[in-house]
Amino acid sequence: MKQVWTRKDLIGLEDLSREEIIHILTTAQAFEEALKTDPRKLPNYAGKVFINLFMEASTRTRVAFEMAALKLGASTTTITQSGSSLTKGETLRDTAQNLEALFADAIILRDRTSGAAKLLSEHVKVPVINAGDGAHEHPTQGLLDAYTLCKYFGQDLSGKHIAIVGDIRFSRVARSNIWCLKKLGASITLVGPTSLVPKEFEQFGVTVSHDLDALLEDLDAIMMLRIQKERQGTDNVPSLGEYRKLFGLTETRAKRLKPEARILHPGPMNRGVEIDSVVADSKQAVILEQVSHGVIVRMAVFHLCLSATQNTLSA
Ligand code: CP
Repeated sequence: MKQVWTRKDLIGLEDLSREEIIHILTTAQAFEEALKTDPRKLPNYAGKVFINLFMEASTRTRVAFEMAALKLGASTTTITQSGSSLTKGETLRDTAQNLEALFADAIILRDRTSGAAKLLSEHVKVPVINAGDGAHEHPTQGLLDAYTLCKYFGQDLSGKHIAIVGDIRFSRVARSNIWCLKKLGASITLVGPTSLVPKEFEQFGVTVSHDLDALLEDLDAIMMLRIQKERQGTDNVPSLGEYRKLFGLTETRAKRLKPEARILHPGPMNRGVEIDSVVADSKQAVILEQVSHGVIVRMAVFHLCLSATQNTLSA
């Protein structure tokens, strides 16, 4: 039987086939079931050590990777930029190769440079998992968002209309979601000001809109993104108040969504800017479900990449 997953690394969702994405989601589903009913059915990675190499701030992604490792019996160590020898001029590549020499079994990398995870994956034998590289991709976020949507709509998202609203231009989350959700069949509209959602995004096979109010009643899901000031050289919106008025998911706008439509946000949220507090805490919001699904999906990713590595080494 053909093996669906043969990759050592998870760098992005652009390169993955629909079959590979569904395989990750189905593996995650089986792990979630095992966690609830009989954790002994989960694979056991006792003795393995996964290293979180986080060169940018993170709460959800870093802790979710740690939790995923712990639930599989593995241990983790976290290295941040300020606490590492990168501050002494060591390169990221040298750092990763040293971690491998220190018996790391997998490296999870978050870095501000697009392409950093791909580069490392070419210089170490252990799995490299991209936890966000610049504005390029955040594949496990895309997978956990898809996992959350599939809970409500099934794994075939054909006919579902999903809006991703906000700072698309600087968002790795938006890019990973575009690749993933399109492969699952969804129609995607990117919404925001022209400065943050340029027409060029249409080449990804999505619709671009600058008018959120024209879409609300038609949506099955809406994903709100924060304005990523840390990645923007200059201000791309006149003021946060003006931005909220045009593109914020206010209570008035949320009331126009279908009752079964789901509201997503990858976090961290800026309440009162892209999403109002009352909306973020509403029944239609699945934001904390997304966070929990991040653990499950990352368990599946660890397992698949480690299994593929093991198969390659023993072949
Ligand atoms: N969604 C996300 O990547 O959040 P963190 O930056 O807190 O990891």
